[in-house]
Amino acid sequence: MLILGIESSCDDSAAAVLQTEHPGQGVVRSSVVANQDDIHRAFGGIVPELASRNHVVAITPIVQRALESAGCQLGDIDAIAVTRGPGLVGSLLVGLMYAKGLAHSLEVPMVGINHLEGHLLAPLLEHRLTMPFLALVVSGGHTALFVVEDFGRYREVGRTRDDAAGEAFDKVAKMMALGYPGGKIIDEMSRRGNHKRIRLPRARVKGAPLDFSFSGIKTAVATFLRSEAAVGVAAEDLAASFQETVVEMLIRPTLAAARQFNVSTIVLTGGVAANTRLRERLTQAAADEGRRVVAPSLKYCTDNAAMIAMAGSWRLLRGERDPLDIDAEANLPL
Ligand code: KG4
Ligand code: ZN
Repeated sequence: MLILGIESSCDDSAAAVLQTEHPGQGVVRSSVVANQDDIHRAFGGIVPELASRNHVVAITPIVQRALESAGCQLGDIDAIAVTRGPGLVGSLLVGLMYAKGLAHSLEVPMVGINHLEGHLLAPLLEHRLTMPFLALVVSGGHTALFVVEDFGRYREVGRTRDDAAGEAFDKVAKMMALGYPGGKIIDEMSRRGNHKRIRLPRARVKGAPLDFSFSGIKTAVATFLRSEAAVGVAAEDLAASFQETVVEMLIRPTLAAARQFNVSTIVLTGGVAANTRLRERLTQAAADEGRRVVAPSLKYCTDNAAMIAMAGSWRLLRGERDPLDIDAEANLPL
């Protein structure tokens, strides 16, 4: 079965072709992403209206490119999987309407996919994993822990009470006037800094050891920047200290969940999974307890359509399809 995946939930327009015969297994024939960072950079964050307008421009060429690099044509596609939420509703609608139009004209089944299910199943694009496994989804929009019990059975066991970790990276980079998106910049700068020079508070959510909170660290950095202590401090040291703090605040609940639910495999995914220090420290800390960390390649950690096709594959292979009147849902629960 050749599945065309389409993703447009935030600021990336993406299309992919996945060839699959068995649920959870498949060959990515192509995966292309049109990134809008240059458009939003001037605003220091995503402007929803600009994002949806640019999806309209990008969607046809991106699907065309995905088909070309997969060496196939529209007529070869057997089914379509498209993100229907959660995300920016204007952005979601572009991909969803496009997918509906294609499914109708090609007379092929279509399924609407929860973006988070895509992130959770992304590791299956490259690895054979046995379920259950634990997944830390950490991006600009999400920070949550899931136990993936089976296809279609995802149990959220921890979540952020306020901001997502990626959002904290982006906001702190903005406060420090480093540029956008901030995660990658802070990651690179931190390698030249010493995290021990500045001590920032580590937040824990009282009575909820599997939950996260990142609004406090943002305020702590803002307060530090305004204080006398900031005079003469190297930006690299502050970046390193902030990053180290966030990494520790991500690791503690993740390991606690792995112990509580007795899982030996931890999947790290979402844009922040690109963070070098997080990968290093989580891998080490998990190994110390006899657990392994699996992180998809960066191209499958950040938003992409191959993971959406993968998330659609198990339902499509069973012969399921969604009606063409499904709606985009900004807060679609998993
Ligand atoms: O998954 P993603 O591409 O989009 C969604 O938010 O859904 O994630 C983007 C987020 C941004 O907040 C970005 O700053 C962060 O991932 N990010 C990083 C790194 N690369 C991207 N954060 C920390 N370290 C990185 N190397
Ligand atoms: Zn995402």
